[in-house]
Amino acid sequence: MLSSPIEEIKNRLDIVDVIGGYIKLHKAGVNYRAVCPFHNEKKPSFFVNPARQIWHCFGSCGEGGDIFKFVMKIEGVEFGDALRILAQKAGVELKREDPKIKSQRQRLYEVCELAGKFFEKQLESIAGLQAKNYLLNRKVSEESIKKWRIGYAPDTWNSLSKFLTGKGYTGKELEKVGLSFESQKTGGYCDRFRGRIMFPIFDLSSQVVAFGGRTLKKDETAKYVNSPATLLYDKSKTLYGLNKATMNIRKKEGCILVEGYMDVIMASQAGFENVVATSGTALTQWQLRILKRYSENLYTAFDMDLAGNAATKRGIDLAQAEGFNIKIISMPEGKDPADVASEDPSLFAELINKAKSIHDFYFENTLSKFDRNTLDGKREISKILLPVIKRITNKIEQNIWVNDLAQALLVREEDVLAELGKVKVERERFVEMEEKKEPVVLNRKGLLEERLLSLLSKFPENLKLITSDDIKLFSLETVSVINYLEKKDQSNEKLEERVKSLALKLEVEDPELDCKAEFACCFKELKSLIVKEKLTNICRDIRIAEQGKDDEKVKELVEQFCYYSKSRNKLEAQTS
Ligand code: CTP
Ligand code: MN
Repeated sequence: MLSSPIEEIKNRLDIVDVIGGYIKLHKAGVNYRAVCPFHNEKKPSFFVNPARQIWHCFGSCGEGGDIFKFVMKIEGVEFGDALRILAQKAGVELKREDPKIKSQRQRLYEVCELAGKFFEKQLESIAGLQAKNYLLNRKVSEESIKKWRIGYAPDTWNSLSKFLTGKGYTGKELEKVGLSFESQKTGGYCDRFRGRIMFPIFDLSSQVVAFGGRTLKKDETAKYVNSPATLLYDKSKTLYGLNKATMNIRKKEGCILVEGYMDVIMASQAGFENVVATSGTALTQWQLRILKRYSENLYTAFDMDLAGNAATKRGIDLAQAEGFNIKIISMPEGKDPADVASEDPSLFAELINKAKSIHDFYFENTLSKFDRNTLDGKREISKILLPVIKRITNKIEQNIWVNDLAQALLVREEDVLAELGKVKVERERFVEMEEKKEPVVLNRKGLLEERLLSLLSKFPENLKLITSDDIKLFSLETVSVINYLEKKDQSNEKLEERVKSLALKLEVEDPELDCKAEFACCFKELKSLIVKEKLTNICRDIRIAEQGKDDEKVKELVEQFCYYSKSRNKLEAQTS
């Protein structure tokens, strides 16, 4: 019998490799662990179990599953797309789908990919000669052009739109990925990008999802035209170059942040492959959380003039708040990373080595710019540094800065503090990444039940210790897991996953456990708890029934009371 593509993919891929391609995993006994990529945490509670080929987060998000579920979550895609991504990784060929039922998303990926190919081809044509020469003049190598798939959008109204509709995609689809728009005048579709050098923007699995188009003219108002937000592209969650940089960010244990496409390309050409660009916008919390999967060390090579761009500073504040170690690389006056990397790679390396902490960066730069011995100088220095100090949330750290500023200016610390009190900083609320899932808090009974289920999932031989009388005591949820364990053959994906994660939980928490003793103890304690609870409830119901003079009901309840008190006595006898 031929196995399904899903099984085939699972057979060929190892979960540790797949997940390890996205986040840093550390070996922990038979499992691997990591900081959970799906919620914010400091201590790693995300586990990968190679034997079962599953993953689970024991932190507040509580997510778990197989490689497909992981890829769906981390890439934010539907199952079909996760299947395609993993099939490609595994080298499994999926049957050609009926084009009508192909997911909408998949068709949009195809449109982007085709557009990318179209632009690449145009760059090599006569129309693209000027663009090609521009790139070569800026020392972009042929190899880099191929590697980054740089292209050219011809200076015509609709050559791309015509090309893509000719391939069977609708104008609406071109509009959806931001490549075309409907012309008011003619009703036909026009290209968004015209007469521009085209930089495709890739997602983490290197699929083209958007474009940035740079003008060739010096006087053009818009130096860059970029794709709008689409179903495939959200610029606040994208970092240009990250798809090629992940391995190197891990290897070098740090990521260099730059502003532009050209910076990434030229740095990579000069051998610095751990570089990604924010594409000219402020760093967002989403981008930071993605980066955190690879490293906690950030080097910014932004243009950081001291009076500085508020958005840049906000991004850095945010990175600090997210727990990154940040160093600032200072570029020579008037140069950007692309210039330095292409003119003098060894200087670029040196600048990286000389990267300064935020503290040193600010102090050294302000103190060298103004004369701290004059009143004016002191004023200018404090005007720059006080707002920076104000934004430091850690009080100890803030005190160190206050201290240093007082010393630098030769003034009293109290005076610095007094001035600091007067500084107003716009406190912006940062949008929370996702709605926070409240962790499910279990009561003692819930905890015991969960533990019991873990013990049963890991050691099903304990099942025979549960009698049909016992079953009556448990909650429906517990009974359904027990039923599933007893007749393993029934296929129920939800329960299957639950059982796997229950077993994994036990392995993670207590790798060397005396399962028999633990089961006996847990089982008994749970039973007495349930029986006690039942007795309390029956007593209450008897009182109510008596008030209502419902003799039948009273009789029935008293019988129940006798039954459960016998159980209680039995349980107590076992203890002594
Ligand atoms: N950017 C943009 N729109 C603009 C200017 C800039 O979207 N009008 C974004 C682009 O992503 C660009 C980045 O901001 O890559 C950095 O801008 P800049 O340094 O001006 O561009 P470079 O990529 O360095 O391009 P070049 O070196 O060719 O000027
Ligand atoms: Mn530049």
